[in-house]
Amino acid sequence: PIRKIKKICCIGAGYVGGPTSAVMATKNPDVQVTVVDYNEDRIASWQTDDLPIYEPGLLNIVKLARDGTFNNRSPNLFFSTDVDTAIAEADLILLSVNTPTKSLGRGAGHASELCYLESAVRTIGSVATSDKIIVEKSTVPCKAAETLSDILAATSRPGVRFELLSNPEFLAEGTAIRDLLAPDRIIIGSLDTPRGMQAAQALADVYTAWVDPARIITINLYSSELAKLAANALLAQRISSVNALSAMCEALGADIDEVAHAVGLDRRIGPAMLKASVGFGGSCFRKDILSLAYIAESLHLFQVAEYWRSVVGINEYQKDRFTRRIVKCLYDSLRSKRLAVLGFAYKKDTADTRETSAITVVNNIIAEGASVRVYDPLVKKERVWDEVRAGSKQPELVEERLSVCGSAYEACADADAVIILTEWDEFSNKSVEDGRRHGTNEEKGQRCLDWGRVAGLMRKPMFVFDGRNVLDPQPLEAMGFRVESIGKGTAPKS
Ligand code: UDX
Ligand code: UDX
Ligand code: ADP
Repeated sequence: PIRKIKKICCIGAGYVGGPTSAVMATKNPDVQVTVVDYNEDRIASWQTDDLPIYEPGLLNIVKLARDGTFNNRSPNLFFSTDVDTAIAEADLILLSVNTPTKSLGRGAGHASELCYLESAVRTIGSVATSDKIIVEKSTVPCKAAETLSDILAATSRPGVRFELLSNPEFLAEGTAIRDLLAPDRIIIGSLDTPRGMQAAQALADVYTAWVDPARIITINLYSSELAKLAANALLAQRISSVNALSAMCEALGADIDEVAHAVGLDRRIGPAMLKASVGFGGSCFRKDILSLAYIAESLHLFQVAEYWRSVVGINEYQKDRFTRRIVKCLYDSLRSKRLAVLGFAYKKDTADTRETSAITVVNNIIAEGASVRVYDPLVKKERVWDEVRAGSKQPELVEERLSVCGSAYEACADADAVIILTEWDEFSNKSVEDGRRHGTNEEKGQRCLDWGRVAGLMRKPMFVFDGRNVLDPQPLEAMGFRVESIGKGTAPKS
């Protein structure tokens, strides 16, 4: 029978592996959790208080388990580049390596790249001398478990047995710790064999240290793999649906926030993930939908593939539509205009810029002839440069027209328009909604933007394009701003 888990090894010290391991370790003081990565800088940074990723509340959780601070416990969270030793010692291995979209060969731009996963599993095969439970934590295409089993069978020592589980992570960045501490559900997929079910139970026992057992659902391995892709596809689909409606609102003189509120009150629909925006970003939605569509296509389900791809299609449309509106409002030409971009991260409370809509919007306006000054409270300057360059068809224009500023006021000086691309609380002029604003601002030492001061800095007429609907237009209009929000048309005046 499979024993109680004493040692966990997490391969991949990124956005998923780091926070997940930290919470598991904090909640299971008797389990040793070692996070490994071959990236030495990343591991070194996890060993300091300057963590490689920013997540509200993460540092406290890490310090608790890693340093044993606050209640004199022994440290049980370790970060290491010694991948082999951590694998050899572990009872359970979490695979949290990156699975980006393939950039080479068959399926490039669509399918998921499994080379990192494959390499991690080959290492497990060659290093393991005792039985292991191996858990797919990163998002994988359906039936990846078959591929991994095949590699293990061919590379491992005789007599060593592996049990593969799928346990997808549903955390969202910016709220990772909250999501991990109070998950809606934990999905554990296993083979329908006695050993498969025992392995699932052993993993479930790690979670019951803090999660209500009623929220832990054990299902078939392949259902679990598909559930992860399905969840992200359905969430993204809601955003594309609401963004498609936002285009209609602008034309009709309706207000998308009112429409979303009205439909979200239907319990069958619910209020979450209905916020119209300049388009979704992040490392998951686009990648997972394209992966789902690619799988559908490889099963000859062409209509299904087309349906899911249209979700990404609307997202691209929304980004371009937003840029077109900017150009139109600024008298059909951005040549020699100065635009301030506030926010570059793909959402607030993260420094992550993967797939952020800002890459497209900034490049679009640069291509229209404008010079752009970007400010983001958390994203490093180099990161903005790298992303915009990588997303550009004319990198020489980027060098000429982009600058990245250390403050919002610097970005807004002499600007013809301000463009909000991330919903950072500090850009909003609305009253505090959920109490989080206070904590976040205090934590980061941020102050809310003084729009009166911005007005004093800008060229006239002063346009504001609110790609996140974080602004209450009325007070700004009273100051002389012309505010264009997503999904808000001019209501007919009686
Ligand atoms: C619908 C809306 O639910 C209701 O709010 C609106 O006022 C009128 O349209 P109705 O068409 O009567 O109501 O029934 P509904 O329960 O929504 O089902 C519509 C169709 O969808 C049915 O054929 C039903 O079998 C099907 N359906 C519903 C599914 O296939 N799957 C589901 O999960 C739910
Ligand atoms: C998502 C899923 O939410 C999470 O469950 C999964 O594990 C990983 O992918 P994440 O990408 O971190 O998480 O953030 P999420 O809050 O889902 O936002 C994704 C993108 O959609 C962001 O760019 C966000 O700004 C945008 N968004 C989100 C909207 O435009 N409108 C909304 O209503 C919600
Ligand atoms: P995610 O957002 O899915 O967590 P990240 O890119 O943030 O993805 O993190 C994945 C991490 O996995 C990276 O730090 C990468 O260096 C690491 N990694 C990838 N392959 C391996 C491997 N075979 N062994 C160890 N670490 C790996």
